[in-house]
Amino acid sequence: MASRVIPVEAFDLVVFGGTGDLARRKILPALFKRYCAGQMPGPSRLIGAARSELTTEGYREVVRQALREFGNTDGGPALEGFLGQIDYVTIDARGGTGWQELSALLDINDHVRAFYFSVGPGLFKDLAERLQGHRMVDANSRIVVEKPFGRDLESAKALNRVLCGFFDEGQIYRIDHYLGKETVQNLMAVRFGNMLFEPLWNAQYIDHIQITVAETVGVGGRGAYYERAGAMRDMMQNHLMQLLCLIAMEPPAKFEPDAVRDEKLKVIRALDPVEPHHIVRGQYTQADGVQGFRDDVDNPRSKTESFIALRCHLSNWRWAGTPFYLRTGKRLKGRDSQITVVFKDAPHSIFGPDTGRHNNELTIQLQPNEGITLDVTIKEPGQGGMRLIDVPLDMSFAEALGPDADAPDAYERLIMDVIRGNQTLFMRDDEVEAAWAWTDPIIQGWEARGDVPKPYDAFTSGPDTAQQLMRRDGREWRGIDS
Ligand code: BG6
Repeated sequence: MASRVIPVEAFDLVVFGGTGDLARRKILPALFKRYCAGQMPGPSRLIGAARSELTTEGYREVVRQALREFGNTDGGPALEGFLGQIDYVTIDARGGTGWQELSALLDINDHVRAFYFSVGPGLFKDLAERLQGHRMVDANSRIVVEKPFGRDLESAKALNRVLCGFFDEGQIYRIDHYLGKETVQNLMAVRFGNMLFEPLWNAQYIDHIQITVAETVGVGGRGAYYERAGAMRDMMQNHLMQLLCLIAMEPPAKFEPDAVRDEKLKVIRALDPVEPHHIVRGQYTQADGVQGFRDDVDNPRSKTESFIALRCHLSNWRWAGTPFYLRTGKRLKGRDSQITVVFKDAPHSIFGPDTGRHNNELTIQLQPNEGITLDVTIKEPGQGGMRLIDVPLDMSFAEALGPDADAPDAYERLIMDVIRGNQTLFMRDDEVEAAWAWTDPIIQGWEARGDVPKPYDAFTSGPDTAQQLMRRDGREWRGIDS
């Protein structure tokens, strides 16, 4: 089943920070793939803008190398065609250099203009001021910003004030790349495209829900950033929160930006404060040839968490009493992201007390090996009376959709949505602020208590206390596949 390519109008995409890491790893390869799919029609342009003094030819060489490294492309007519649609401007975000040139480039036509702020939030105001000052922003323009969107409620509000001072909310695209993942969107398709699950999707039938986003990577070259962020700010406040929203939200009336985002916001606002004894923080120590977190962030006394597990509750009609267990961490035993919906036991076992506990579980495997598994209880084959076992009804998306099924990278979808002006998969200002309003007291509590994360060996499942978080409720985490 090949994916359908929806035509887009010609556009100009200006990438501030066009030589940076995000541009090279994600934005440029994503755009090249869309070019190959015919979604960067003729007069469209990518305009790199950065401090480096490069000619357009020099920048095209940067792009060529980035695509070789991260885009699996060595050359050929497609690459040459793509490079031919690229321009470059040396720009000083805080000064006057380059702005006239950029404005002149954009004035050639009246395409959709998207300005991607692939730079630190400290530059947002400078960029916004200069874009407005040079009259480059019109009703057809969009601004794209990345996480981290603030580091607490106050800073997020300040950033929102800056952006909303220059642009309408309808022009601001705040990326959480988890929302662009194919399987994450599938969560909505599974919930709202099937009659089967929705009637059971509530506290009456569901015992608990667990969400795991496990990574094997450490903090890599991002030690300085991560030491200030930690897993709570880097992953929980945004990616896991978004997954929770999609799993827990009420059906929106339409699959439209504000209808979806209104429902997600209600979920975040219904979250209860988390009790300190329902949170486990961890920090990886050295093992199997990799160094520990404290060496990675170059701080022997670091109190930053590389792992967090917590239990939270939603105070609303649908979910009252159903715990949600969320965990994420680096240097865990596998790269394995999944959501498991654990249904309650059948109310009465007609097969007698010796057949054990059995219940249904729906697992949505987000990455890798995307797919859905539904555990159902059946009779164990053979003699010996009625013995029950749980077996998976297994659907791997790759198998079900065939070898041609093409799952685009999250950035491909998100960039095209920006061009089309579809904000459904982007975070609204009030969503981001509500997520910080829930996160802040948790972090402030750690700071006030001088909380120190529990050490865990790299390439395990995190600290033992994370297992106890569930065991004391009579539950178990699903294993992390290595
Ligand atoms: C980023 C985090 O937002 O998401 C990283 O800053 C993390 O720390 C990454 O590794 C995970 O994304 P993915 O797509 O690899 O699951």
